Amino acid sequence: MSPYYGLYVVLGLVFKLAEIVIRVLKVNLLMKSLEARFGNFIIGLNDSRPKESAPKDSVSKTEIDHLAKMVHCWWDKNGPAKMLHTFYQVRVPLVVNGLVETGRIAKGDASKVDSLDGVRILEAGCGGGVLAEDLAQFGAYVVGVDPGIEMIDLAKKHLDTESVDLKDRIEYHTTTVEEHAKKFAGTYDAVVCSEVMEHVDEKESILEACVSCLKPGGSLFITTESQTMLAWFFFIIISEYILRFIPKGTHFYEKFVSADTISSIISKYGCVTHKVHGFFYDRPINTWYFINNQDCNYGLHAVKNK
Ligand SMILES: C[S@@+](CC[C@H](N)C(=O)[O-])C[C@H]1O[C@@H](n2cnc3c(N)ncnc32)[C@H](O)[C@@H]1O
Repeated sequence: MSPYYGLYVVLGLVFKLAEIVIRVLKVNLLMKSLEARFGNFIIGLNDSRPKESAPKDSVSKTEIDHLAKMVHCWWDKNGPAKMLHTFYQVRVPLVVNGLVETGRIAKGDASKVDSLDGVRILEAGCGGGVLAEDLAQFGAYVVGVDPGIEMIDLAKKHLDTESVDLKDRIEYHTTTVEEHAKKFAGTYDAVVCSEVMEHVDEKESILEACVSCLKPGGSLFITTESQTMLAWFFFIIISEYILRFIPKGTHFYEKFVSADTISSIISKYGCVTHKVHGFFYDRPINTWYFINNQDCNYGLHAVKNK
């Protein structure tokens, strides 16, 4: 692995130590009260943008509008969404290996180019369609839903440029996961909700809908950022403020969520976490790896009870 991984490990230890000190001294409470008093005193900690007074579901219009501003460069492989374009390196194996472990895919088929053939997947929060296309390339039938009209328009436009074979295996809808679940409960082999949780305030609502869409024994895959100082440092300070890969205000520490919190929410709806993998992104070589440490971002696989 690259020398950047060594740096990542050292920073991980430094931040872990800082977190322990902060927890012991309850400095995070102090930081939050300072921010409440002095506005955005601590960069990227809280989302101080106006919030809807009574949200009906998990959707925040402010988030959708912010992400919609990136539509023009979503499919630019060197633009702000660059990381998403090589994320298939771990997201597709996360799904394929998870489905092998539940027996939905035969072990011998895992390395085939059409390993996901016949698997019906809901992509909850599909954005411009990067992951939906990656999954369909491996043979899955993918339904992508997203509340962002601009994102779904973009996903449809991009799909139009692809082969008939791919077009036949993807459909997109502008809707919320909660609405979709009302009509399609219990119909999917897998639900993938990737890089969405960090844009959602009402996590329980979207997670309940994701689980509801699964067939008994179906698999839920979630990728998101951990609620740690390390993730705050990499995704906000480095990526948004120092190197400016991603527009400022895309991520907030308060919206990051630990795998334990996700596991505890989905367990209420009959879904049990099976495995959590850590991810490491080596930006200079634009490559993703599975690692044992889940302190920055992770991929969770859970299975709905039969
Ligand atoms: C960073 S993009 C990820 C897109 C896609 N999953 C991927 O990985 O290529 C986040 C997407 O989540 C969508 N989103 C935000 N809040 C959502 C919610 N409550 N329910 C469903 N989708 C949501 C946004 O519109 C946006 O398209």
